[in-house]
Amino acid sequence: MPSRAEVGPSGREGHDQADRPEPPVTTAGVAPWLDARQDLESRVASLVADLSTDDKVAVALGDGTPLQARGVPALDYVDAGTGLRGVDGATAFPAGIALAAGFDPGLAERYGAAVGAEARTAGFTVLLGPTLDLARDPRGGRVAEAFGEDPFLAGMVGAAHVRGAQSTHLIAQLKHFVAYNAEERRTGYGRPDRRGDAVDVLVSRATLQDVYLRPFRAAVEAGAWSMMGSYNRVDGRYVCQDPDLLALPRDEWGWRGFFCPDFLFAARDDAAALAAGLDLPALGGPAGRTAEMLTAPDLPAGRLDEVVGNVVRALVGSGLVDDPVPDRSGLPDASSSPAAHRALARDAAIAGSVLLVNREGALPLGDPVTSIAVIGPAGDDAIYVGGGAAAVTVDLDRAVSPLRGLRERAGRHVRIVHAQGSLGDVPLPTVPAAAFALPDGSGPGVQVETDGVDPMTSVVPAIDHVVTQEAMTGAWPRRWSTRLTSPTTGRHRLSLQLGGRATVRVDGTVVMVGARELEQFMAGPHYPLQCVVELKAGCPVLLEIEYEVGPAIMIPPAGLGPSLRLGWQPPDDRMDEAVAAAAGVDVAVVVVTAAAGEGMDRDGLGLPGDQDELVARVAAANARTVVVLNTPGPVLMPWLPDVAAVLQVWYPGEQYGAALAAMLFGDAEPGGRLPLTFPVDRSHLPGGDRGPADAPESLRYAEGSALGYRAAGVRRHGALFPFGFGLSYARTSCSVETVAAQDETSS
Ligand code: BGC
Repeated sequence: MPSRAEVGPSGREGHDQADRPEPPVTTAGVAPWLDARQDLESRVASLVADLSTDDKVAVALGDGTPLQARGVPALDYVDAGTGLRGVDGATAFPAGIALAAGFDPGLAERYGAAVGAEARTAGFTVLLGPTLDLARDPRGGRVAEAFGEDPFLAGMVGAAHVRGAQSTHLIAQLKHFVAYNAEERRTGYGRPDRRGDAVDVLVSRATLQDVYLRPFRAAVEAGAWSMMGSYNRVDGRYVCQDPDLLALPRDEWGWRGFFCPDFLFAARDDAAALAAGLDLPALGGPAGRTAEMLTAPDLPAGRLDEVVGNVVRALVGSGLVDDPVPDRSGLPDASSSPAAHRALARDAAIAGSVLLVNREGALPLGDPVTSIAVIGPAGDDAIYVGGGAAAVTVDLDRAVSPLRGLRERAGRHVRIVHAQGSLGDVPLPTVPAAAFALPDGSGPGVQVETDGVDPMTSVVPAIDHVVTQEAMTGAWPRRWSTRLTSPTTGRHRLSLQLGGRATVRVDGTVVMVGARELEQFMAGPHYPLQCVVELKAGCPVLLEIEYEVGPAIMIPPAGLGPSLRLGWQPPDDRMDEAVAAAAGVDVAVVVVTAAAGEGMDRDGLGLPGDQDELVARVAAANARTVVVLNTPGPVLMPWLPDVAAVLQVWYPGEQYGAALAAMLFGDAEPGGRLPLTFPVDRSHLPGGDRGPADAPESLRYAEGSALGYRAAGVRRHGALFPFGFGLSYARTSCSVETVAAQDETSS
């Protein structure tokens, strides 16, 4: 039986305090909260009792000075789901979905411990992660950040991640409590001064308990000391202001950690959030949190002590007080990725890659292979990490691209050629002003109609619009119209980069529609909309864009704001060259990409741009075509019957190429199994009936617990690849002996 001193936030064993040295005794005596021999609750109570009301208010306002003066560290947060975001030198680990595909709690624990160790070196005390949101709709922008569609798997991997992360004596903050499964309208629409409500998730309490809360419960039972309340509403109430939801982990799971709101928009009414049970009602948010609010007479009695107590308990219980992190001011700005962490990133990428197809032993590549064409975004344009909170800065000098990895592994005896084929999921070069003429043919340019009190129409030379700080308060563009003319005949790719929501029509037909909070979220990939249209040289088409500010993030001092930029790629020789390269080699490896992450949902499950066409044409030219899916989740594969092998690598982190080469050459075998269903059609999964043109204010989880492999559509139509699927290189055979049945009565 553990003593109370060893008990963690959920009543389970916390960090080991058995061999702690005795605290130093000074003339003033030992502060009881620093005395590791005392039990946790006594240490918390003694520290809270030592703080004045002003001190407590300061702590609740996010100022750690009163704690630091008493030898207790402050809360210092870093996004840390897949490595440290914004910390130079940090290791970029494979995405959460890859970790989940390993189905290996031991690996998840080592992964969490490595991220924790780097955070500790860099001087942080709170790890924002892991992400435990389930993949309800596979188009959800943050699906790659989390652990798939199954509550048990997500809980198992999440719990192990937390055990590892907190073994470094830091605080893990679970994200995002709860029912946050898509980006659409997550923070509401509109300018900050008139931001609308966030999406309202209509879900029964039974489904919440059976499905969406289960991973959180597992991670709480593994000892997680903190949770982040999500942006969305549940049944009409903001999660961060819902006393019932906030009380549930404490009342039903015995949790004693602290609750933070997600950044900026999660707590809309700070006083209500505080009263409802949120501990830090405005982390990084607008200046809604005030000293008056924390001492208001109508605040439930003891609430301020409770807030401070929850924070202090996490700081002491995690081991941060007894094993403080080094002072960041005394360190270089970066934690530098140790070799062991890079090896772990590579191993985790291998363990999480899923071999979906392997016809006639196409993989691994054996001796007879003397030439390989590597096609697609396989260089620095590969996608290593997702966007937003998962966007660990990838050091391109250190990262191993697919091309580099294959070249290094292949050595001199295998000829490797690279042909771009497709640019992949990237924004295309800006359409030049010469391509635009006004709709009435009266001159060059693009007609822009703005909204506001005095709607007006103006003319701009091109669709390359970034809202400046001054424009934030002015009129907003609502509709762009122009005649687009190309000097070339053929298939043109178009891309639209945006912060906002847009629908693009060519001669009245919708060709792109979608919403993005930003063009690119933190250091992650760009998030363009894409399409392919047929244009005839010299023949104009009417291009119209309807635009609303919608979800655009607006933080002008940080250079973040609404934008709209049209790019194109007129027909060129890229794809022909790739097909020719494929025809002249033993094996064609085609890498395809789809960008995703925080602040966007995918607009469908198709590969963006011209990549399906590329795979089909390469497969027609080379029977041994291996497709590498550098994608955040399921994609549709219209070329599936024609390729020799398909390897799903997700966002594999900085050791992408090293892992890929090891798998393709058979030094290691892909160890992953699918942590989510690949549907035949997106409409077979919950949420699949929502098209990119819909931006609903509420989402009804009508399917209840029938998620992923349990979805009615999947049971009825089957799956392209089911949950749990994954091949290995091993050949297994079994023979069945025939056993004659014995007549029981004769014995
Ligand atoms: C995200 C969180 C993240 C926070 C701080 C929010 O926008 O939803 O996952 O931890 O920002 O970066």
